[in-house]
Amino acid sequence: MNTRVTVRDIVKMKGKEKIAMITAYDYTTAKLVDQAGIDIILVGDSVGMVVHGLDTTIPVTMDMMLLHVSSVARARPRALVVGDMPFLSYETSIEDAVRHAGLLMKAGADAVKLEGGSELSDVVKALVRAGIPVMGHIGLTPQRSFLIGGYRKRGVSEKEREKILEDARELERAGVFSIVIEYTAADVAGEVTREVSVPTICIGSGPFCDGQVLVIHDLLGLTENPPPFAKAYVNLRSLIVNAVKEYVREVKNGVFPEEKHYFYSKKQ
Ligand code: KIV
Repeated sequence: MNTRVTVRDIVKMKGKEKIAMITAYDYTTAKLVDQAGIDIILVGDSVGMVVHGLDTTIPVTMDMMLLHVSSVARARPRALVVGDMPFLSYETSIEDAVRHAGLLMKAGADAVKLEGGSELSDVVKALVRAGIPVMGHIGLTPQRSFLIGGYRKRGVSEKEREKILEDARELERAGVFSIVIEYTAADVAGEVTREVSVPTICIGSGPFCDGQVLVIHDLLGLTENPPPFAKAYVNLRSLIVNAVKEYVREVKNGVFPEEKHYFYSKKQ
């Protein structure tokens, strides 16, 4: 399939084919993950931590997200591009939410993602009314990590299980086209998946979901302290360090550049 993946395609994949989503934050990486056949590229606010070295996603700004969304969109991927709404870009008012989501769409996103449950019902409805497809994000919501006591496992108590189910139902009613479930007990994520008609895409929440998402730095083995649920498919850290060591050695020894890497003027 060479045509672009749409929100409708993603919804239709539920129960038929697992959805593979990954984060990417720049043109080159977007090209590569698209070539690998990914369904959804998430320009996540995790960019603040894995690219900009921030301790949390809280300081991530709209300007940062717009820069990264436009860089990914310029790769013209086949995959659906989802832009994350940063902290306080949608909580202050419905007007702010629509304006900021609109800016992400104008920068090249095909949809936006926001963190939270039933309390965001009106925001989701307003975005959908404005023609902006919305992906929900429940369970562990890192933008609220200060409120919920850190990066904690979710869905372990009956109260949390009920809240997660209620959040999923409310988001579905409000019109989201899919829901990310983060660091939540696998049985609870499975229950949500059976309960809602839109696809669930999980991270650290087990196999009973309609799809999976990973942060690309974790998948490539670039993260120094990856979360316990991440899987590294390659150790790019050591590959990069070894390549640069080799370059340093060749520069110091005068091996690089070789003849093919330079030219003389005609006069010589
Ligand atoms: O920002 C991000 O990368 C995310 C994923 C962890 C789902 O929200």
